[in-house]
Amino acid sequence: MTKTVLLTGGAGYIGSHTYLGLVASGYDVVILDNFSNAQEDVPLRLARITGSPVKLHRGDVLDPVFLTGVFAAHDFDAVIHFAAKKAVGESVAKPLDYIQTNVGGFVNLLQAMDAADVRRIVFSSSATVYGDTLVQPIPEDHPRTYTSPYAYTKISGELILEQLVAADPRWAVGTLRYFNPVGAHYSALIGEDPQDIPNNLVPYIAKVAIGELPRLQVFGDDYDTPDGTGLRDYIHVEDLADGHVLSVNALLETGQSHTVNLGTGEGSTVLEVLRAYSDACGKELPFEIVPRRDGDVAVLTARPDLARQVLGFNAKRTLDDMCQSSWAWVSGQLRNDPKP
Ligand code: UFG
Repeated sequence: MTKTVLLTGGAGYIGSHTYLGLVASGYDVVILDNFSNAQEDVPLRLARITGSPVKLHRGDVLDPVFLTGVFAAHDFDAVIHFAAKKAVGESVAKPLDYIQTNVGGFVNLLQAMDAADVRRIVFSSSATVYGDTLVQPIPEDHPRTYTSPYAYTKISGELILEQLVAADPRWAVGTLRYFNPVGAHYSALIGEDPQDIPNNLVPYIAKVAIGELPRLQVFGDDYDTPDGTGLRDYIHVEDLADGHVLSVNALLETGQSHTVNLGTGEGSTVLEVLRAYSDACGKELPFEIVPRRDGDVAVLTARPDLARQVLGFNAKRTLDDMCQSSWAWVSGQLRNDPKP
């Protein structure tokens, strides 16, 4: 029988790619989103790719009455919770906003789930829960520590779920710790779409490639890495989406909880990413070396073994795939084509 999954934040960057992965795997999928960080036309674009209209509830996880209505309207088998704030710098300036949405909104969701007898959830966590560590690649049993309010909310979410599972064995939880998701859907109809000047590397390079920003600022070239620039575990957003499908499959099939890293296990430096993006867009992209960014670590890479063992997860796509798909998406937007 077809299983039904609710995606909170399903119109956002990772949520929209996961929507497509779930539909392709035969799930009936419902999106809940307040469009605070998603384009209005994402549901139309998803419908264009899948050939079916999107089931959408527009509203906020901070509104318990709205949540109750969503759960009354469907018979969900599981929820994937993406709806959260995610800018590390903004969280330092506005910690209460982050705690309200990422912790308060999350508790509202869990209460609505419990009341509706839906107790399978996949939670968007982050490698940020490992703090500044020299252990690389990082295994899941590494201690958690927070270096920003954002990280605090992700650790809080993980702890809340652990308490819930300990209190009530009917719950089963998939906690997915993302490393650095980049790239776009192969259709080039959906992708990451930051409205302001991006904080993250690949969206920033993309804006340099389309001429909206003059040059990349490389934050430091004196780290202990092969070329001195920061090294991260970039994962294609379609691989990340596949990880969510595997996580839901596992929860529904086994009822066993899991906490896993989603990364490739490989790292790339800032200059390697810039090189791959230049190759993808067919032009040299200007950059300058500037001082290190506060709070950055030299290296952050996942130990990917547990996700392979528990979920059968293997990231398949390369750095070139990530840059080529990002370029196809942003250059398609530039050409203003093709609107749904
Ligand atoms: N970088 C630049 N120039 C830029 C932007 C980034 O040189 O304009 C460098 C950074 O110094 C770092 C690398 O590119 O070495 C990646 O930076 P990102 O900002 O893209 O990603 P981070 O690894 O800093 O942060 C990501 C997520 C956070 C999460 C963190 C830890 O964006 O949400 O990983 O998991 F908290």
